Amino acid sequence: MQKIAVCVSGGGTNLQAIIDSIADGTIKNTEIAVVISNKANAFALERAKKANISSICINPKEYADKKQFAAAMIDTFKEYNIDLVVFAGYLVVVPDEIIKEYRNRIINIHPSLIPAHCGMGYYGLKVHESVLAAGNKVTGATVHFVDEEADHGPIILQKAVEVQEGDTPEILQKRVMEEAEWKILPMAINLIGEGKVYIKDNIAHIS
Ligand code: GRF
Repeated sequence: MQKIAVCVSGGGTNLQAIIDSIADGTIKNTEIAVVISNKANAFALERAKKANISSICINPKEYADKKQFAAAMIDTFKEYNIDLVVFAGYLVVVPDEIIKEYRNRIINIHPSLIPAHCGMGYYGLKVHESVLAAGNKVTGATVHFVDEEADHGPIILQKAVEVQEGDTPEILQKRVMEEAEWKILPMAINLIGEGKVYIKDNIAHIS
């Protein structure tokens, strides 16, 4: 049984997609052992409670420094015997200690086709504003392993989404979530749980 920790900061629609995908069998042999948020009022925590999933708030601002925050997160991952950490709208700059301890066992969902429209400062609606400002006709979402650079690690899955005339950032965000994010994040979790994802020369492959 693959035990995952889902880290959230906001509404939790990607968390909900994972919960629903476990319930309908899209994700096999996997359990959400804990949901962790840096924000005590994140609606994602309400979704976890409603699904009877353990949830805790670990706020980096409550720790003296990054090292102590990292230790608190790692201790929690170990307490719940976590195999895979999933960042699902987790707006925290992750200390390198965590990435080193869980190298290639942390994945993130980003709402663009990396390496476009990503990196520090590219989150939420800002990503879609950037896509529209560039006049892109196609955008999408990416699931990737997390490394020390923002939105940079080996890409696991991507799914393209059409940009339509008249799109606002809000309309585009909704389409990318519905048509891409909520599909490829559960798919990636399932593939990893089935041992079908491997990395060679820093490129992720699916067997
Ligand atoms: C999503 O667009 C995700 O791609 C990005 O942050 C947003 C989180 O949304 N990382 P939610 O909290 O999963 O609804």
